[in-house]
Amino acid sequence: MGVDMRRMGEIIVQYRSDMTLKTGETLLLRSLNVQDAREAIDVCVATAGETPFLMRYADEWQVTLEKEREIIAQNETAPRALMLGAFVAGRLVGIGSIAPAHNGDRGRHRANVGVCVRKAHWGKGIGTAMMRALIDAATRASFEQLELEVIDGNEAAIHLYRRLGFVQFGRRPRMVKYRDGTYADALLMALTL
Ligand SMILES: CC(C)(COP(=O)(O)OP(=O)(O)OC[C@H]1O[C@@H](n2cnc3c(N)ncnc32)[C@H](O)[C@@H]1OP(=O)(O)O)[C@@H](O)C(=O)NCCC(=O)NCCS
Repeated sequence: MGVDMRRMGEIIVQYRSDMTLKTGETLLLRSLNVQDAREAIDVCVATAGETPFLMRYADEWQVTLEKEREIIAQNETAPRALMLGAFVAGRLVGIGSIAPAHNGDRGRHRANVGVCVRKAHWGKGIGTAMMRALIDAATRASFEQLELEVIDGNEAAIHLYRRLGFVQFGRRPRMVKYRDGTYADALLMALTL
């Protein structure tokens, strides 16, 4: 696995690494750039339609190409933030991110982390590889704690996070309300880096 992380002090500038998946396919993990904006929207919309465990329904993803480019550009230059793309055979199949949880002195040691993978590629180790890359990047950026919220019942994600050392420290009741009127809580999890 090759890793190239150009950094300036605590600023994550670029991330790039590759590895072979258990399927034999090559996985490229790299920072997203503005040319990826169209595919990034497609992955978000598609994944939202493939799982009940994300915050938005697919039809709620109304982000324009221009706005997505802006978000990616901000992340490319933002200190200590990373939008990570997972590419298989040249196609974007997953997106992960780390972002500071707070920008004040009292909260700058904490970051939020998130990850999603297209359903056709679940179970290949991509989620794990992305999370490991994000943990690595967060550590290099001097974060001390990674935090996430995962909807109760999202067993694959909970299993993945626990396997990487995340522990549950709380629960948010009624994190989501589905359109059928049912609710689901979220588990609050953290990893000490
Ligand atoms: C959660 C997610 C990122 C995992 O990605 P992935 O590429 O399939 O992850 P991996 O293949 O690296 O690992 C998945 C692990 O979950 C396990 N798993 C899958 N289904 C499971 C289930 N129902 N119960 C328990 N474990 C399960 C797999 O066995 C594997 O663990 P192992 O490597 O120890 O065998 C992916 O399913 C996804 O994007 N889901 C939709 C979006 C989402 O829920 N994101 C997380 C929001 S908090």
